[in-house]
Amino acid sequence: MEGREGGFYKILRGIGSVIPTTYLKTFIYLNGIAAFRKFLYKSIGTFYRVDHVYDVIMEFKENYNGSFSILEFGVADGYSFTKKLNAIRYLKMEDRIITHGFDTFEGLPDLTEQADNALVKGAEWVKGTYHGRYENLLNYCRSKYKNFELHKGLFEETLTDEFLKSLLKRPPILIWIDCDYYSSTKAVFDKLIPYIPTGCVIYFDDIYFNFSSRFTGEMKAVWEINHGKFAEGIELVHDSELSWNSNRVYRFINLNQKSNYERKNHVKGDPVRRRRNDSPFP
Ligand SMILES: C[S@@+](CC[C@H](N)C(=O)[O-])C[C@H]1O[C@@H](n2cnc3c(N)ncnc32)[C@H](O)[C@@H]1O
Repeated sequence: MEGREGGFYKILRGIGSVIPTTYLKTFIYLNGIAAFRKFLYKSIGTFYRVDHVYDVIMEFKENYNGSFSILEFGVADGYSFTKKLNAIRYLKMEDRIITHGFDTFEGLPDLTEQADNALVKGAEWVKGTYHGRYENLLNYCRSKYKNFELHKGLFEETLTDEFLKSLLKRPPILIWIDCDYYSSTKAVFDKLIPYIPTGCVIYFDDIYFNFSSRFTGEMKAVWEINHGKFAEGIELVHDSELSWNSNRVYRFINLNQKSNYERKNHVKGDPVRRRRNDSPFP
């Protein structure tokens, strides 16, 4: 477009004009300029799934009273589960947060729905993969931590009424969905929705399955929640700050919640900003 080229475009033209052949121009562009730009972009702006765990715990430590839960659906060998336990310890919240891990520990169950399936050949989930070592994880966690529980079995069986009631005393602040299938994600939300307070952070590990299509996988559950297919008065709002450049992290909105969080500091006085000066400075 006439007159719209920026400085980067001009530099590229300059560099291109001094490189002799098309092959060399292409090689230098791909291996030098494009690779450097991608590296910079990825190292500065890319989502890393541990960051939000610390951010969420700090947010609730600083701003809210009470005790909480963190729930992980899909634990496998406990790679991310024990990182959560460490985050809670590091941030000195062991007396206020229990982490619950749910898994068969026998790997992925059978595919039950078309919506669990890959649309690209070779990308299918396979029954039995992600087989964990339940006893090993239990012993390891017991040797280091107290504030955890592992729930062995299918989600639809381990999300008992008794467990759900316990969430009224310790509402979840972070729910990790890392169970690959649409059907498993649905099984979780079918039971859990009334017990998730407004503001709870929900993380979806496999949101990019089938290019994040709304017809399959975890994204189908996100889409259905936001189109009233699970229940009325609920919504998943994308949290752009916690998500960085991804679409993995959401805040749950729930008009029919059974419990909610209590802020430490209620807004005191009138928060109006008094006029000071008209410059861009505050
Ligand atoms: C990708 S792995 C979890 C990885 C783990 N979070 C980690 O960071 O290493 C997915 C897990 O979900 C579990 N899973 C999937 N559907 C399930 C269901 N309906 N009930 C129980 N576990 C399920 C599988 O057993 C598997 O271990």
